[in-house]
Amino acid sequence: MSQTIPLVDVKAQYAPLIPELEERFSAVLASGRFIFGPEVEAFELEAAAFLGVPHAIGVANGTDALVLSLEALGVGRGDEVICPAFTFYATAEAIARVGATPVFADIDPATLNLDPADVASRVTPRTKAIVAVHLFGRPAPLDALEALGLPLVEDAAQAFGADGVAGTGVCSTFSFFPTKNLFALGDGGLVACRDDDVAERVRMLRFHGSRDKVTFELVGTNSRLDAIQAAALRVFLPHLTGWNAARRDAAARYAELGLGEAVELPRDESGHVYHMYVVRSPIRDKVADELGEAGVASAAYYTVPLHLQPAMRHLGYRPGSLPEAERAAVENLALPMWGGIGAEAQERVVETVRAALGVPV
Ligand SMILES: Cc1ncc(COP(=O)(O)O)c(C=O)c1O
Repeated sequence: MSQTIPLVDVKAQYAPLIPELEERFSAVLASGRFIFGPEVEAFELEAAAFLGVPHAIGVANGTDALVLSLEALGVGRGDEVICPAFTFYATAEAIARVGATPVFADIDPATLNLDPADVASRVTPRTKAIVAVHLFGRPAPLDALEALGLPLVEDAAQAFGADGVAGTGVCSTFSFFPTKNLFALGDGGLVACRDDDVAERVRMLRFHGSRDKVTFELVGTNSRLDAIQAAALRVFLPHLTGWNAARRDAAARYAELGLGEAVELPRDESGHVYHMYVVRSPIRDKVADELGEAGVASAAYYTVPLHLQPAMRHLGYRPGSLPEAERAAVENLALPMWGGIGAEAQERVVETVRAALGVPV
């Protein structure tokens, strides 16, 4: 049987950079500074410059980035925060962690991102913020959401480098989980921020609510980006634009190869960075099974929308209450995608999907 095609091949992306990584890691070892210090500070400056924001604050992971952003905005008990029902669980979990109530909004089926009209219909006097997710790397409709006049947090965990990301929200949060477009070699996260005061609060909150490590003004937490991860991120960041361009080329190639005759393709938009290449099919499970048999990895993200997750049951949503999120959960399928996936692998994916759907190959 021919070689298995993975969903993502992170190692293929960083393999050519191993000598440079080893050099940077040796420098960190020689410095003896593993927490904060010059590597983290340099990465924060480079990330801020890349994103075009005045502040970038390294934290331990993308979930903390959300929690700390919401806390810095003063979101807490008694507040409501609107977020999409179709996203990774951490988006809503972060809202609940700060004591607020997640209010789930439906998605636009054409983009899988928040539907601003549905968000508008859920605003109440208790709504304190909106968390918009740039799902699968596609920019969310920030202008329409900002027009609602509420503080906007961008959950950009999946969208480092996508057009317009970190341009509108008060805070934008990123994850450097190893499969992300910009990734670390372990956990890591970042808060990008345009407001000086909010940035200062995030900085304090990530280190026990202190500015100087002597006086503790807030109840914060310990959420730090390690120097060794910052060193890796500094090696990867200059390659991100090229990797994202390669992902866009691969997305275009899937369309050229005729994948769209079998399944619904993600809309080809210039700002999209295809963290995941997610297609839709009413017979998603059959397609996934046949891909598996042919040695092609695929994955369904996310199979249960957040309003129907057990931990959110107490909020009282019923099946059918957010129909587009629910339909996306049964139809979506992520196909192999990374910066550098070859044409041959993509041809095999397309042939297998077409055969599963009975479209001539
Ligand atoms: C949309 C979204 N939000 C938040 C997170 C949380 O990031 P992390 O796993 O780094 O905590 C992730 C990633 O896993 C994500 O995809």
